[in-house]
Amino acid sequence: MNDNVKILGIAGSLRSASYNRAALVAAQGMLEEGVTLEVFDLEGLPLFNQDTEAQPTPRVIEFKRKIRAADAILFSTPEYNYSIPGVLKNAIDLASRPYGDSAWRGKPVAVMGASISAFGSARAQYHLRQCFVYLDMLPVNHPEVMIPHAGHAFDGEDRLVDDASKALIRELLDNLVRWTRQMRK
Ligand code: FNR
Repeated sequence: MNDNVKILGIAGSLRSASYNRAALVAAQGMLEEGVTLEVFDLEGLPLFNQDTEAQPTPRVIEFKRKIRAADAILFSTPEYNYSIPGVLKNAIDLASRPYGDSAWRGKPVAVMGASISAFGSARAQYHLRQCFVYLDMLPVNHPEVMIPHAGHAFDGEDRLVDDASKALIRELLDNLVRWTRQMRK
């Protein structure tokens, strides 16, 4: 049986210097052999409109294709007003439709996040996990990776320098890979 694991990373931010994208880049440097992590940029996705859901744009088609081709999903979410950013919810909605054609169904998934506050996007992460119930995704629960005080956790070149956060991301990746292989059997 093929043991390789392809992870698709999605940061819930369009900001060029996004800490959450930087956290995914940090994760890319921690992968064991046979595991890949591609980061999909949400730039260019349209706003979801149910009137046109049966005519997806090329970018939406590409997004759904990437999700389907992945063995697992890794979200890194900011917290906006105690919840997930609209850009992330919009992307989730786009790939979940039309009804019966969701790209998310049955995907192993893990969550992490960074914010400038002391809570490291905790509240947003719980809102994100709620979506997994309807989407029928298969979440890894531990460890919870909440990177607080992102302005200090990353250096001036967007590199993650906080050792505790690095260790948690490593553990999360290990658990996601193990979980994905288990689900495959
Ligand atoms: C924020 N930020 C924020 N932080 C937080 O810890 N809790 C919150 O509720 C919010 N709310 C919020 C709303 C809006 C509209 C913005 C723009 C920002 C700050 C947030 O943590 C900070 O902007 C991060 O840098 C966002 O993540 P990225 O873009 O760096 O990945």
